[in-house]
Amino acid sequence: MKSSSKHWDTIFSNTEDSKLGWYEKNLSQTLELLNQIPDWEKSTVFLPGAGTSVLVEELLSRGVKLVLNDISIEALNRVKGRLNDEGREIDWLCQDIAQPVQGTIPDVDIWIDRAVLHFLTDEDDIEGYFENIKSTLKAGGHAMFAEFSRTGAPKCAGLTLHRYSIEELSERLGSSFKLVSHFDYTYINPYGDPRPYIYALYKREN
Ligand SMILES: C[S@@+](CC[C@H](N)C(=O)[O-])C[C@H]1O[C@@H](n2cnc3c(N)ncnc32)[C@H](O)[C@@H]1O
Repeated sequence: MKSSSKHWDTIFSNTEDSKLGWYEKNLSQTLELLNQIPDWEKSTVFLPGAGTSVLVEELLSRGVKLVLNDISIEALNRVKGRLNDEGREIDWLCQDIAQPVQGTIPDVDIWIDRAVLHFLTDEDDIEGYFENIKSTLKAGGHAMFAEFSRTGAPKCAGLTLHRYSIEELSERLGSSFKLVSHFDYTYINPYGDPRPYIYALYKREN
């Protein structure tokens, strides 16, 4: 089955945050990579497939500007409800991130994908996703990924995954992106199951 708004809306309508298979309160791994970017708190950050992650509040509390994307309006509405007035400053973008980014968004300094890219399995969708990074991210900006590694589970949220190695991420980004840092991390989901991830940070040089 392909990732679709209906699939994800159903999940978010029926599941409280702490029961989601990717729920993560501890953002240490993401912050470890972010802290390698000079002055990252002054950035505009694009979160593809932001879901209902508490990373949104963490980034807002540090002063960053946000573009929040998700294919699920249920997920975005839940975050909007949590934020109240703070949400006014955010650019909300409900669309499939494999399709060209719609409307006008600010120039992006940092792209942070946590467990979204690996749901794209058609080659056209994967290519569309990487085109969006290249069309929205400034030269000198950074792209960060946390994806199921090649040794990870083949499915999540009932969907088949395209799992990643550093080599594949680097190849798809192309030579203008330089690998800054990467590590393996095994996330334990709310049901006690280990989920091996790769974390990677790239800098766009031109
Ligand atoms: C595993 S969750 C991760 C959520 C969030 N990034 C986090 O760290 O908790 C995957 C998220 O990607 C969204 N998603 C899946 N396919 C998508 C697509 N093609 N375009 C945009 N969002 C998508 C889902 O709705 C969901 O919110």
